Amino acid sequence: GDSLRALGANIGLRIGTAVNTDQLGSNPAYTSITDSQFSTVTPENVMKWQLVEPTQGTYDWSAADRLVASAEANHQLVRGHTLVWYNQLPDWLTAAAPSMSPDQLRSILHKHITDEVTHFKGKIWQWDVVNEAFNDDGTLRNTIWLQKLGPGYIADAFRWAHEADPQAKLFYNDYNIEFTGAKSNAVYAFVKNLQAQGVPIDGVGFQTHLDTQYPLPDLKNNLQRFADLGLDVAETEVDVRTTLPVTATEQSAQVAGYSQTLQACIAVRACISYTVWGFSDAYSWVPGVFQGEGAADIYDENLQPKPEYYALQQDL
Ligand code: XIL
Repeated sequence: GDSLRALGANIGLRIGTAVNTDQLGSNPAYTSITDSQFSTVTPENVMKWQLVEPTQGTYDWSAADRLVASAEANHQLVRGHTLVWYNQLPDWLTAAAPSMSPDQLRSILHKHITDEVTHFKGKIWQWDVVNEAFNDDGTLRNTIWLQKLGPGYIADAFRWAHEADPQAKLFYNDYNIEFTGAKSNAVYAFVKNLQAQGVPIDGVGFQTHLDTQYPLPDLKNNLQRFADLGLDVAETEVDVRTTLPVTATEQSAQVAGYSQTLQACIAVRACISYTVWGFSDAYSWVPGVFQGEGAADIYDENLQPKPEYYALQQDL
């Protein structure tokens, strides 16, 4: 059958994957699937602050630059991920932040955003400007950014990113906002308020890390209410984990999870991309983070397509 990217192109939907840059270029099967099946790529790690500025003042863009060059060669767009997060910060920053003044920390954040967005200027389709700033109960997450800078750090981050690359689409990205509830409602109210203040936000990314043991009640309607604010929406990190070993029943639930999430995106005109968080169980982040779970991706550990892959192909 046709590739996911070709089928997506027929309906104006970009199909993406997070990319492990250790495999890209060195693993032929991995590279061939990345290039042939997907029309957008997201660096799984190599644009994160910890990776790009391991020592204060010394940038290492090499791995991210390689991914961007590969994307250009393969006519893929790039989702930049991510500028402001509480996790995967460089050690020098985590160590120094508690004793910094708000002005010091603000200027470090401003410089980080300006330098990174400027480095990739013109090459990024969507930037995840701020990642995971909310708790599941709808309150703002207690990060160094919130502690030192207050809630205004989010609006500032979008303004600084926009100054550095006015063409890039700027996204807020989070998990557990796929269904309505405290967290999704809080993000909805927050981005609406950003828009009212004239903050340059273009979209909301729904990570969509699913688990077969949790339901997914109303993804389509929830995407649509964000779209109705005039925003783009995207599913940015889709995977569907389950307990190992996988039973036939669980695999059916996984297939249904992929199908349901893709169909919701297709049904919402403003849903501009559907991205899986890695395509192969061989390199998934899931087993390292969720005890006893895995098999969350659309290709197996030998890089062979699973029923999950064929379900996406069918739905496109
Ligand atoms: C994960 C990567 O997949 C891992 O390799 C890394 O060790 C930790 O981060 N939400 C996000 C992603 O926004 O950046 C995370 O990626 C997965 C959860």
